Amino acid sequence: MMDWTDRHCRAFHRTLSARSLLYTEMVTANAVIHGDRERLIGFAAAEHPLALQLGGSDPDALAKAAAIAAAWGYDEINLNVGCPSDRVQGGNFGACLMRDPALVARCVAAMKREVGLPVTVKCRIGVDEQDPEVALDALADAVLAAGADTLTVHARKAWLQGLSPKENRDIPPLDYDRVYRLKRRLPQVPVIINGGIGSLEEAQAHLAHVDGVMLGRAAYQQPEILLAVDSRLFGARDPHEDAFSAVAAFEPYIAAHLSAGGRLHDITRHMLGLFTGRPGARAYRRRLATDGVKPEAGIELLRAAVDEVRRAEERRILVA
Ligand SMILES: Cc1cc2nc3c(=O)[nH]c(=O)nc-3n(C[C@H](O)[C@H](O)[C@H](O)COP(=O)(O)O)c2cc1C
Repeated sequence: MMDWTDRHCRAFHRTLSARSLLYTEMVTANAVIHGDRERLIGFAAAEHPLALQLGGSDPDALAKAAAIAAAWGYDEINLNVGCPSDRVQGGNFGACLMRDPALVARCVAAMKREVGLPVTVKCRIGVDEQDPEVALDALADAVLAAGADTLTVHARKAWLQGLSPKENRDIPPLDYDRVYRLKRRLPQVPVIINGGIGSLEEAQAHLAHVDGVMLGRAAYQQPEILLAVDSRLFGARDPHEDAFSAVAAFEPYIAAHLSAGGRLHDITRHMLGLFTGRPGARAYRRRLATDGVKPEAGIELLRAAVDEVRRAEERRILVA
C-alpha cells in the first residue's frame, strides 16, 4: 500500500505469518527500470513468498521491469489495474485500464514472455459508468487469454471523477457477489477477493466462494490478526503464540537495522496497531509515537512500550 507499507512492514508481517503471500506497494515500471533499485524493490530473503506490484501500461517497459524483478528474486509479478489516483490516471495506468482490456492483455503477454514467474492482475469490478457484469468479464477474459495466472479483485468500482483515492476505497459499494460470480464462471482460474475484509472469520467465509483473500487496511491497522492466519487459513502451525513473542522474535531484525544506522521509528511506525483493542494499547502507541521517534531511540524503547501492554494485562488479571 503506497505511503504505508515498505520492506520493514513486510518483514514485520512475515514474522506474524509464515504462509501468507506478501505484496509490495505499487512501483511503476519506469521507476524499476531507471530508479534506485535497492531502495525501490530491495527486500530481505525472509520476506518470501513476495510479489512485486507494478504500475504501467507500456508492454515493453513492464516486460523489462518484470525481468528485473525476476532477477531480484521476486516470486510473482502483479499488475495494478485498480489505483484511481489522478497521477496514475495521468500516466494512463491503474484503474483506468479497466476501459482497455486489450492493452492490459498486451502488457500481461509481454511480461509472460519475459519471465517464468506467475503474472497476476489486481483490478476493480469496473470504473465510472461501466457495467461490472460486462467490464470485469472483459478484463478477466482478455488477461487470462494473455496468460495471467491469477485475478485479484477489489470488489468495488473506482469512480475516476470526483473521488479521492481514499474515498475510492470506501464510497463505491462493495459487491462481493460479483466476484463470486466471476469465480463460478471461471472455475479453473484462481480468484482472490479484496475489499473491506476485517477479520479472519470474514476471510474464511469468503473462501467458500473464492480461492484467496487479500487483506489491506486490516492487516496494516490490526496486524495482530495475522498471528492466526497460518493455522486458520493454511492449516499450519502459527509461528508465534502471541504478539509478545512475535515482537521478541522480530527484535534481531530491528537491532540489525539500528546497527546499520537506521532509526527505530522506520520499523515501529508499522507496529503501532499491534495491540489494538487491548488494555495498554494506547500507552504502547503513545510511547512509540513520542519517545520512539527520537533519533536515539533504541530497542529498549520498544520493550518499554510493549511492557505497557503487559502491565495493563497483569493489572486486569489482578482486578479480575
Ligand atoms: C494507503 C493505501 C495505499 C494503497 N496502495 C495500493 C497499491 O499500491 N496497490 C494496490 O493494488 N492497492 C493499494 N491500495 C488498495 C488496497 O490494496 C486495497 O485494495 C483496498 O484498501 C481495499 O482493501 P482493504 O479494505 O482490505 O484495505 C492501497 C490502500 C491504502 C489504504
